[in-house]
Amino acid sequence: MEKIRYELKETAGKVTLPDSLGFGQVFTDHLFEMDYDSKKGWHNPVIKPVQNISMHPATMFIHYGQSIFEGMKAFRNDDGDIVMFRPEEHIARLNRSAKRICIPEVDEQFLLNVLKEIITIDKDWIPAKEGESLYIRPFIYGSDSFLGVKVASEYKLIILLSPVGAYYSEGFKPVKIQVQDDYVRAVRKGLGECKCPANYAASLLAAEEARKKGFSQVLWLDAVELKYIEEVGTMNIFIRFKDEVATPELTGGILPGITRKSVIQILKDMGEKISERLISIDEVVNEYKKGNVLEIFGTGTAAIISSVGWLKYKDMEMVFNNGQPGELAVKLFDEITSIQYGRKEDTNNWITYVIKQGVEVL
Ligand SMILES: Cc1ncc(COP(=O)(O)O)c(C=O)c1O
Repeated sequence: MEKIRYELKETAGKVTLPDSLGFGQVFTDHLFEMDYDSKKGWHNPVIKPVQNISMHPATMFIHYGQSIFEGMKAFRNDDGDIVMFRPEEHIARLNRSAKRICIPEVDEQFLLNVLKEIITIDKDWIPAKEGESLYIRPFIYGSDSFLGVKVASEYKLIILLSPVGAYYSEGFKPVKIQVQDDYVRAVRKGLGECKCPANYAASLLAAEEARKKGFSQVLWLDAVELKYIEEVGTMNIFIRFKDEVATPELTGGILPGITRKSVIQILKDMGEKISERLISIDEVVNEYKKGNVLEIFGTGTAAIISSVGWLKYKDMEMVFNNGQPGELAVKLFDEITSIQYGRKEDTNNWITYVIKQGVEVL
């Protein structure tokens, strides 16, 4: 792979972050960009100032959606070191998504080094307050201009960095969820396990309608029978039954979350009974009626854990833990954030150092 070219911003200097960062609104000084064509493969890697993209109106991904992305985080930990959480897993998922929609894969070790490089260059943008982090958004899109439906022959990979605020700046509040049986997000053997824009486009109307009715998000059912629970909003879902914690098995319609994988490992380490299996919405309702559903929570990079306080399915309204955060949800949130901020030993090797004691770790 070619060496990265550096076209750094001359005025990049002291960074003043706004008090309230929110999510995805503030961007650092630089982005990483690289091109692909069938002759040269991935080439022309460059770190340069964040700028607009100029493209032909026939650029293929705009019309046919051949595009993928990832979402991961870096943290300024309690010792002042800069770390990433499981970047290799995110890069591997990017390549699995790439394969599914005929995008050329990327060298995983090279991409990991690129992440370390660009995070180091823009390190002053990484916020330091409790719960804050640097959100990392790599994406790839088919970039040749042609109006026929086919696999693109040229691509661009870009990595954007965005400092983000604490997800729970107002406390760990449980959310209100509507079970969605009018629309589906993704179908097995379709694109459900691929992190591509199509799945998010498919989810918007349902989320909007739920929001208008006072819900934070929807719980998605499988797209074939509308019977099995799959995901909650843009998170994976876990149910704590009386004698088992269960999460839907990865049937192909579900994004294999890195937080999901981490939670499963933590539960195993804690000696909990954790199953990956089909969970029907009828089972949830029946077990709820018997008092056997103790809590429900979602898992994902943005919130880490999101406790579900209320769930509505047809006319049935379920309340968990009196609308208070579930005990296991709180414990898992503390466990994962403690690893990310360096308060707890990283026994599973989930942390990748970018800067340790002031020195870049390559
Ligand atoms: C649809 C969907 N499901 C699940 C997740 C959770 O995945 P992860 O834990 O890797 O962030 C995400 C977020 O990335 C998502 O967009």
